[in-house]
Amino acid sequence: MSERRVIPLVSRPKAVASARLSAPPPLSLYVHFPWCVQKCPYCDFNSHAVRGGIPEQAYLDALVADLEAALPQVWGRRVQSIFIGGGTPSLISAAGLERLLTDIRMRLPLAGDCEITLEANPGTVEASHFADFRAAGVTRLSLGIQSFDDAFLERIGRIHGGSEARRAAELAAKHFDTFNLDLMYALPGQTPQQALADVAVALSFSPPHLSCYHLTMEPNTAFGANPPADLPDDDTGADMQEAIEARLAEAGFLHYETSAFAQPGHKCRHNLNYWAFGDYLGIGAGAHGKLSSHTGIVREMRHKHPNAYLEGVAAGNAVQERREVGLSDLPFEFMMNALRLTDGVPLNLFAERTGLPLSSIEPTLVRARRDDLLAVDNERLFPTLRGQRYLNALLERFLPDEPGA
Ligand SMILES: C[S@@+](CC[C@H](N)C(=O)[O-])C[C@H]1O[C@@H](n2cnc3c(N)ncnc32)[C@H](O)[C@@H]1O
Ligand code: SF4
Repeated sequence: MSERRVIPLVSRPKAVASARLSAPPPLSLYVHFPWCVQKCPYCDFNSHAVRGGIPEQAYLDALVADLEAALPQVWGRRVQSIFIGGGTPSLISAAGLERLLTDIRMRLPLAGDCEITLEANPGTVEASHFADFRAAGVTRLSLGIQSFDDAFLERIGRIHGGSEARRAAELAAKHFDTFNLDLMYALPGQTPQQALADVAVALSFSPPHLSCYHLTMEPNTAFGANPPADLPDDDTGADMQEAIEARLAEAGFLHYETSAFAQPGHKCRHNLNYWAFGDYLGIGAGAHGKLSSHTGIVREMRHKHPNAYLEGVAAGNAVQERREVGLSDLPFEFMMNALRLTDGVPLNLFAERTGLPLSSIEPTLVRARRDDLLAVDNERLFPTLRGQRYLNALLERFLPDEPGA
């Protein structure tokens, strides 16, 4: 799944009872593409350096077989957004992408205004394919820019330089009404002025959407094992974040989620559906899904390694893990998503999406409001500034059996 920094789910024994919803939530489709030109040293996504070419046809065949096998789980439901993420899905040929979208359309009813996002990396020839991607039906391009500065791009092991990043942003603006630029800050040796300089270049392309991520050191990555010695300290990182937020507010962006900023009308609908605890079918290597039915809410994950996935699909089973979400886990799972949204969610969404009455979390809500972590206004539940700052502490209160809950 593209959007990161999700607090990992705490694995707990399952409750016996399951959720009963009055109506199914909106449905999205996530498609994972697990290859990149090379592995970036900071990246813990399910992505693998291409060796000896991508088995594009075999993978596209597997995606269709995976989708077909999953259809009974989403029968009759209309898809309101599709996100093709990775990895670097823009490495798929234009013809391959067209085939993929046609295969999906032939099997799933899409909403008339279905948002279709493709993640793209400026570092390869595929930037010249942007017009073809648009023609194939992609409505939103999400570009992994990270920085426009050659020196920083080299430090973080990117395959592209500043001029390719500019060229890709220019092409995205030319071919797409809505597009996103991903930036990372707190890069090795970076000052707040340099982080702001990247934001200024990004703004020169008038992007409708920006995602600004604090570079994090992830276990099981080259940086995680061997962090650069000159990473900005926490205070400097926090200063950068504040300065970026102020600059983007000045430029008219809505800061609607921890790392996401949009011009009015350009919030990412796909990610909003995750954060509003909507449903999503995830197909492709390592893809995660969350699906509700009259019997409860199920989370599933496809086989992670591309070869294991291809073999799994060939053997008639793409799914590596499936588990029902127990009733006692639902408050935490719901809040872990909803409270990332600066504006929060309508109060009644809790009952709608979990099947639990709001009264079941009333004591926790009362305490969190008293501690100035949560607020309710106009029938919306949202984190206060303090709640956003101490989000993990706030979320912990919704864990089952928490003493403070
Ligand atoms: C799954 S990546 C896909 C984008 C595309 N492959 C690329 O890198 O150009 C989505 C985004 O996550 C962000 N990201 C990846 N690893 C990160 C890390 N360790 N810390 C902060 N952001 C990270 C990057 O901004 C990246 O563009
Ligand atoms: S290109 Fe993107 S997905 Fe691939 S390794 Fe780099 S950050 Fe990860």
